[in-house]
Amino acid sequence: MNYKRFSKSSTIWLQRNFRDKYVLEAKEKKLISRSWFKLHEINLKEKIFEKNMNVVDLGCSPGGWSKYVSRYVSPGGRIISCDIRNMHAINNVIFYKGDLLDKNFLSYFLNNVIKMSTDVLMSDMSPNFSGNKCVDISNSINLLKLSFSICKKIFLKRGIYIVKVFEGKGLQKYIKILKKFFKKLKIYKLKTSYNKSRELFVVGRGIK
Ligand SMILES: C[S@@+](CC[C@H](N)C(=O)[O-])C[C@H]1O[C@@H](n2cnc3c(N)ncnc32)[C@H](O)[C@@H]1O
Repeated sequence: MNYKRFSKSSTIWLQRNFRDKYVLEAKEKKLISRSWFKLHEINLKEKIFEKNMNVVDLGCSPGGWSKYVSRYVSPGGRIISCDIRNMHAINNVIFYKGDLLDKNFLSYFLNNVIKMSTDVLMSDMSPNFSGNKCVDISNSINLLKLSFSICKKIFLKRGIYIVKVFEGKGLQKYIKILKKFFKKLKIYKLKTSYNKSRELFVVGRGIK
């Protein structure tokens, strides 16, 4: 493949994807995205999804996680998904397109989510990485704060929260806040994440 027309960071990303076994397997299995494997790994460890559950998927595009969940919760359960970018149409998924950092869109989205009794809130949101570690970590902590603020609005006593976070300054402080809020909290470094990735997944269950 000729990478000349891409920036340095895009070239590194493309080269890594070209060789990655999960990218190849996702193509082979006709999955929407490589992220599917991460949610599957989490679900194998935590046994989260069941028939008739209602699930909210933040940062859902292109739709790997929503599709994974749809198979478990359908036909009785519902999935409400949201992203800045478009998403594939998926059975049983209601999709909202918008930026959750935009206050007006957030309140419109929340008004719709609150009507549903949510069992699982999951966020795979990632910022656009600039390559500047401080900026990237700060943006990812902002997305963590955003999804946790949504979590506090929609969960009263029960609920499962799955969130992607990135190792770096400020994360440990936030993990302490999550530990105070949830009855059980687990942090996973997944085998299905890229080897050098700083991403971790946090699973919180039950509200204290
Ligand atoms: C890693 S992708 C998610 C992949 C998805 N879970 C899947 O399985 O296909 C991260 C997504 O987060 C979205 N995102 C980042 N910031 C967001 C925001 N403020 N509001 C909504 N979506 C956001 C991005 O547009 C991107 O599509």
